[in-house]
This record gives sequence, structure tokens and C-alpha cells, in this order.
Amino acid sequence: MASVNPLDTNACNYNYEVVRQFTLMTLFWGILGMGLGVFIAAQLVWPALNFGLPWTSFGRLRPMHTSIVIFAFGGGALFATSLYVVQRTSRVRLISDGLAKFVFWGWQAAIVAALISYPLGYTTSKEYAEMEWPIAVWIAIVWVAYACLFFGTIVRRKVKHIYVGNWFYGAFILVTGMVHIINHAAVPVSLMKSYSAYSGATDAMIQWWYGHSVVGFILTVGFLGMMYYFVPKQADRPIYSYRLSIVHFWALITLYIWAGPHHLHYTALPDWAQSLGMAMSIILLAPSWGGMINGMMTLSGAWHKLRTDPILRFLVVSLAFYGMSTFEGPMMAIKTVNSLSHYTDWTIGHVHAGALGWVAMISIGTLYHMIPKLYGREQMHSIVLINVHFWLATIGTVLYIASMWVNGITQGLMWRAVNDDGTLTYSFVEALQASHPGYIVRLLGGATFASGMLLMAYNSWRTIRAGEPAVQVLTPSVA
Ligand code: HEM
Ligand code: HEM
Repeated sequence: MASVNPLDTNACNYNYEVVRQFTLMTLFWGILGMGLGVFIAAQLVWPALNFGLPWTSFGRLRPMHTSIVIFAFGGGALFATSLYVVQRTSRVRLISDGLAKFVFWGWQAAIVAALISYPLGYTTSKEYAEMEWPIAVWIAIVWVAYACLFFGTIVRRKVKHIYVGNWFYGAFILVTGMVHIINHAAVPVSLMKSYSAYSGATDAMIQWWYGHSVVGFILTVGFLGMMYYFVPKQADRPIYSYRLSIVHFWALITLYIWAGPHHLHYTALPDWAQSLGMAMSIILLAPSWGGMINGMMTLSGAWHKLRTDPILRFLVVSLAFYGMSTFEGPMMAIKTVNSLSHYTDWTIGHVHAGALGWVAMISIGTLYHMIPKLYGREQMHSIVLINVHFWLATIGTVLYIASMWVNGITQGLMWRAVNDDGTLTYSFVEALQASHPGYIVRLLGGATFASGMLLMAYNSWRTIRAGEPAVQVLTPSVA
């Protein structure tokens, strides 16, 4: 049974089944991934929690955390919303229900395979690309199927115009597929072991071209697609400037792909490449802020809604964090600043300003907007709980990132301090001891954020389960 809003004349034609599946799994993986984040944060406070076992060591659980939150939680939110938005803005059903099923189950299988293989120690050891070759090949197949589903639906659209949100989703799909395939080129030597097709500095450059594109095209461009659809919808206002959104799109995708070398400052990478990456990163500030302003200004004339609408608050505060992390990123890309921040917790603070403040908060706001629509309810079960969730998420993010900034700058300064005779002023362990209070605050912040996710799960469950749908229920065959 599919429940749809009868006020939406096309809704009965849409495939909401796959959107609902991805939505529920986004919640599930969000709780698991953040729960694991809390656990590894606790390991950094109490190392005994590594239990002396290889499978439960920080080194193996960390890539599980990053993979779940980026690919299963963030990715799930992007699958769900892109397939929802592409149907509604194209006014046509997805081209194939079978393909949609394949994409859903194929993606879940890839995540589960990665999560089994990492604790067992099977890894390429490339960050965010740890999956060994059979899993990487499977992901490439599923991704091509997803691209066919998305672009095929665009080709069949019933409106001439392609809404700007779809441009962002489209760029996210194309570039992610491209960098995944190129970075995973490898020579397999057994079922679970391969060697990269590249070597030395070239390998590092391609890895960070990929790594930065994960940040740029999954964690940024994909979520901007979300912003361009859901902020105007929730605010009930048209996007502030359509022209700015087009400039934003082309400027962002032109620049992002060049910024990867800022992850490799002061390494064996040629100096010109490092400087190019730095310059491109600084220029990136302009389109990033252009996009943020476009999203924020969409609330012109609707700011008062923030007083009563916690979903809109999630969306707007996520944009504020987006603006903050895209100011911080270009600053950290300046080589002299990076000489202080690199390898320190400052990077971790920057990551989570983007990951919790931007990616997670915009996803949460969007899911709260979408869930009642997907299940034929008028609104979420409890607006009060959404409000509580909003404060838990905001306070949790601030505690997390503020503690990591303090830690990062402390570590950077302690590591570089030298005595008159040239010896180091502090040992590494002294810097670690100085970081301990920050790790406790980060743990508190992370646990606060994660507890909000539990409230969301409860609220969603009550929304989906409680009583009859508030609006008409139609079967998919109506299509
Ligand atoms: C204009 C935008 C941005 C620029 C120029 C930028 C720049 C940077 C720089 C310079 C680093 C540190 C590299 C190092 O020292 O190792 C970094 C790390 C990182 N940034 Fe950003 N950033 C931007 C936006 C974002 C956003 C919005 C996110 C979203 C989550 C994000 C996620 C990350 C991640 C995950 C890392 C860590 C990569 C790693 O070492 O594993 N960044 N970024
Ligand atoms: C309750 C929430 C979370 C907690 C407590 C948490 C905790 C952590 C911890 C302890 C680390 C390891 C830091 C280190 O190596 O020193 C980490 C790394 C990371 N987390 Fe999270 N995390 C959370 C949510 C998220 C979310 C939602 C995302 C993405 C959407 C994310 C993305 C990442 C990334 C990309 C890294 C690697 C950063 C790097 O290598 O520079 N985290 N997280």
C-alpha cells in the first residue's frame, strides 16, 4: 500500500516506495554511524575501550564510522531525496521500478560488505576508499544503475525545464562515479587484496582528488541539490535568485575538482600543484557563499516562520554551518595556516562543522519535511520533539567543534614550540595530555547529537504507525 497526498495530483504516479526505503535506512544508518562515532570518541578518552582486540581497535572502527555516516547515512539521504525530487520536478515516475529496487538493495549490500570487511582488516588503506576491489566493482555497477535511473527519468520529464536542484544532484552522481572508478583502478592479487594501479605521489594525488571530490560532490554538491528543493518548499517561498543558482552551480563544479592538493601540503607533491590547490580553494569561498546566501535569502519575508517551525530552523542553521565551514576550509588551505592545522584536531573540528552542522542538519530537516508526505500524514507526530531535537543537534555540534578547535590549535602550537637549543619544548605525550579535556567535551557533544537521532527515530515511528493516514491512501497500481 502506498499512501499519498491527494492534493498532489501527480503523487499517485510516483514511485515513493524506494524513497521510503532509503529514508528509513538513512535513519537506521544515521543512528548506527553516529553511535559508532560516539564509541570511537570514547575510545580516545578511555583507550581501554579498544579491548585489546584487533576487530574493536580504533583503527578499524574509524573507517566503519566514516563509511556509515558518509555513504550509508549521507548517501542514503541523497538517494532518497534525489529520487523524490527528480520525480516531482520532472512530473514523471521513475523510469523503472525494478532498477530502483536494484539500486536500493545493491547499495545496502555494498554497505554491509564494507562493514564486514573493515573490522576483519581487509582494506586498501585509502581514506574513504577503503573497500577492496570486489566491493568497489559492485559499487560502480550500482552507481551506474542509479545514474541510469536518475538521468533516464530526467530524459522522460514532462516539463521542459530541468529544475536547478537536479543539476546539483546530476553533477554529484556523475563526478562521484568518475572519481570512484578512477581512484579504485587496481591490480587484484587475491579475492580480498589488490594493489593500486598508481604509485608514489601520483597515487596520493589521485587519492586526494577522489577524497576531496567526496567532500565536494557528495557532502556538498549533493546536499546543495537538497537545499535548492527543500528550503523553498519548507519556507513556501521561491528560491531567492534563480540566476545566482546557475552561476553558483557552474562556478562550484568548475572549481571543486581542482582543490584536492590542499590535503597534501608540504608533501612530495610538486610545489606548483600544492599552490594551485591552495589558490582554487581560496576562490571556492565565493561560489560557496553565493550558494549559502541564495539559500538564506529565500527566507526573505518568511523569517518569522523560524519562530514556529523547527524544521525550517534545521535547514537555516545547516546553511549557517555550511557558510562557516566553507569559510574555514579556504583558510585552512592556505599553506601557512595548514602548517599549524594539519594532522591536528582542528581538521576533525572542520570536518564535523560540515558533517554535523551542514550535512546531518540539512538531512534531518529534509527528512522531517518528507516523512509525513511519504506516509500520507499531515505532519510529524510531535513538533515539540523536533524542537528538542533541534537544540540537541545544535548544542552537540557546537560542543564538538569548539573542543576540537581548542585541541587543534593547542596541539599545533605545542608540536612546533622549540627551545633556544633547537630541541622540542613539549613531548608528543604532553600534547596528548593537554588534549584529554577536549576529548571529553567532544564525547559529550557527540552523545548529545546522537541522542537527538533517537528522538527522531521515535517521532518518525509514531508518525508512520499512529492511526490511519491523515490523507487518502492509494495503491501503486493507480499509476
Ligand atoms: C570551500 C570549501 C572548503 C574548503 C576549501 C575546504 C578545505 C579543507 C582543508 C584545507 C582541509 C584540511 C586538509 C588537511 O590539512 O589535511 C579540509 C579537510 C576536510 N574537509 Fe574541508 N573544506 C571545505 C568545505 C568542507 C565541507 C562543506 C565539508 C563537509 C563535510 C568538508 C569536509 C572535509 C573533510 C571530511 C576533511 C578531512 C579530510 C581528511 O583528511 O580525511 N570540507 N578541508
Ligand atoms: C554523533 C556524531 C559523531 C561523532 C561523535 C563522531 C566522532 C568521530 C570521531 C571520534 C572521529 C575520529 C577522529 C580522529 O581520528 O581523531 C571521526 C572522524 C570522522 N567523522 Fe565523525 N562523528 C560523528 C558524526 C559524523 C557525521 C554525521 C559525519 C559525516 C556526515 C562524520 C564524518 C567523519 C569523517 C569524514 C571523519 C574523518 C575525519 C578526518 O579524517 O579528518 N562524522 N568522527
